[in-house]
Amino acid sequence: MTDNKNLVALQQQIEADITQLFAAEDEGLQYTLAAAKEAGLPQIQISPIQGKFLQFLAAACQARKILEIGSLAGYSGIWLARSLPASGRLITLEVNPRHAEVVSNSFARAGVDNRAGVRVGKALDLLPQLASEAPFDLVFIDADKQPYPQYLDWALRLTRPGSIIVADNCIRGGTALHESKDEATAGLFEYNRRIASDPRLVSLALPMDDDFTDGYAIAVVRS
Ligand code: SAH
Ligand code: DHB
Ligand code: MG
Repeated sequence: MTDNKNLVALQQQIEADITQLFAAEDEGLQYTLAAAKEAGLPQIQISPIQGKFLQFLAAACQARKILEIGSLAGYSGIWLARSLPASGRLITLEVNPRHAEVVSNSFARAGVDNRAGVRVGKALDLLPQLASEAPFDLVFIDADKQPYPQYLDWALRLTRPGSIIVADNCIRGGTALHESKDEATAGLFEYNRRIASDPRLVSLALPMDDDFTDGYAIAVVRS
């Protein structure tokens, strides 16, 4: 084996061991993955470690209201909803009605439908309707990549000092850390550049997925 192969094998072992120790999936999460596969949805949900990290961040900011942009089958939504107190609320936005139907079933099966609901439509059409439900304590961005900078504008409008804004896929093998001709990648880079330099935020990109080649960019709204 080359050194690179040894390194990747070690990274994968570390990820598997951390997952087993800290981020085991319960029946509701496993059901959601099976239902997503059955419905032919793409397998692009966050990893268990990323799910546990969302719960960590929600606990750190004492989240009672959470907004998610991009639901897919509801996998990340269940991790988020489970971090909420009984009176808390998760709103997740999803453009694809077929995905949203899987989400509703998954939330019911996981027992979080009392505090989590999916809204169907383009995020940029739905976000202006959320002002009366703001401020959100945590916003998780994981939909189409090109508009990430616009999602950031909305996240800043809909949060408070101390809120946390998380965005997935902000490393993408390193491509999201540079200028790009690809529109999706350019959106991710513009997002990173803005959160890195916005004086209202304390921000960091964190490799934690896909053998540490992808991950979240996290930002805390300063007090
Ligand atoms: N957060 C999910 C994965 C989301 S995948 C998880 O980890 O479990 C991205 C999702 O965003 C897809 O379901 C896709 O249909 C949705 N999406 C793409 N463009 C969108 C838009 N403009 N508005 C709302 N949802 C969108
Ligand atoms: C894709 C989207 C995601 O949000 C992700 O985490 C991985 C892949 C995609 O569109 O291919
Ligand atoms: Mg993603």
